[in-house]
Amino acid sequence: MPKLSQVLDRFQPSPIAHIFALAIQLEEEGRDIVNLAAGEPDFETHESVCAAAHAAIDRGETKYTAIDGANALKRAIQEKFKRDNDLDYDLDEIVVDGGAKPVLGHILRALLDPGDEAIIPTPCWTSHPGMVHLSSADPIFVPGPEEKGFKLQPDDLEAAITAKTKVLILCSPSNPTGAVYDASELRVLAEVLLQHEDIWIVSDDIYEKLVFDGRTFATLAQAEPRLRDRVITVNGVSKGYAMTGWRIGFAGGPRQAMAGVKKVMSQATGCASSISQVAAAAALSGPQDYIAEHNAIFQQRRDLVVRALNQAEGLSVRPCEGAFFLYVNCGEVLGKTTPAGVRLETSADFARYLLEEKGVALIPGAAFEHDPYVRLSFAASSEALEDACARIRSACAALA
Ligand SMILES: Cc1ncc(COP(=O)(O)O)c(C=O)c1O
Repeated sequence: MPKLSQVLDRFQPSPIAHIFALAIQLEEEGRDIVNLAAGEPDFETHESVCAAAHAAIDRGETKYTAIDGANALKRAIQEKFKRDNDLDYDLDEIVVDGGAKPVLGHILRALLDPGDEAIIPTPCWTSHPGMVHLSSADPIFVPGPEEKGFKLQPDDLEAAITAKTKVLILCSPSNPTGAVYDASELRVLAEVLLQHEDIWIVSDDIYEKLVFDGRTFATLAQAEPRLRDRVITVNGVSKGYAMTGWRIGFAGGPRQAMAGVKKVMSQATGCASSISQVAAAAALSGPQDYIAEHNAIFQQRRDLVVRALNQAEGLSVRPCEGAFFLYVNCGEVLGKTTPAGVRLETSADFARYLLEEKGVALIPGAAFEHDPYVRLSFAASSEALEDACARIRSACAALA
């Protein structure tokens, strides 16, 4: 057989996919599974957005758009960046594609060469290092300690920078921890970055709209305008507007870098769905009030889960500041034995035990390069969350 690309040997398939497959298999076998592994809001897309999409179909807007996005959507994105982030981008400094994920992929392909290093604070979203590998570059993981809110510390950033460092990927609110950097924390990191002019910063703001306890969202290019020409700000409608299936993501950045991203896109993609682009423009420019309503519900659910899980033997969890994830410390259950006689060595063993014995799907920390933890998504009904927490508590109590 002909050989596959050696790039495939650089990384493992995502452990998230593995847990998902197992959860689906158990469901098909008739098991009652509470799936808290998913990374998407459980709310419906707002009716005003759906109506805009219907109208686009009725008008026959069913053809290719410009590869990097229709101008109508780019104008809505331009206004969004100004309104929400006080960032000014010309239309040719903005790109659109089918989700923040492919947009991130295009950006990293435009920035990275084989052998370059990309600094990724951990816990991190599993696809950030995956995409760095796809560019044949090397992710350099820098742990954000739990006692520091899982956030990258400036000294650790400085220590990780080498002559090969080309990119820093920041993600706030974070998947998987929900950590949110405020403007002053970003400025402290910016002080380090200002000393290193050859580093690009990719700011993944996809969870921007999901911040709790009255926090104000901040993004690096806004917090430190002197970095504006080295920061590419990535966002989308998937999470905040409950539009994961519509597949629209976008980015704004300095003209020269975005020209490179567009060059990649010209060969790597056609364009995002024309209908979804109209829907995304309607989401960005239409009513915004339902987002606060969603957040209030998310916050109640967060509090419910934090209360319930801190009563589980061997688990501890801090309330997150944003997104809809809790990163649960399971260090104290490791080394214990399940009723079936299995010794739990890793967070993956614990996640498997919860899924197989109690029907609760969580993602083990290996997926996020930071253990011993499991990620719980609270984008589920309060009933489902209460049920899941009761199952997790009983699973923990049954360990010896
Ligand atoms: C941190 C982070 N960035 C980007 C994405 C991708 O978002 P999209 O659905 O717009 O591709 C996700 C999705 O899970 C994510 O968690």
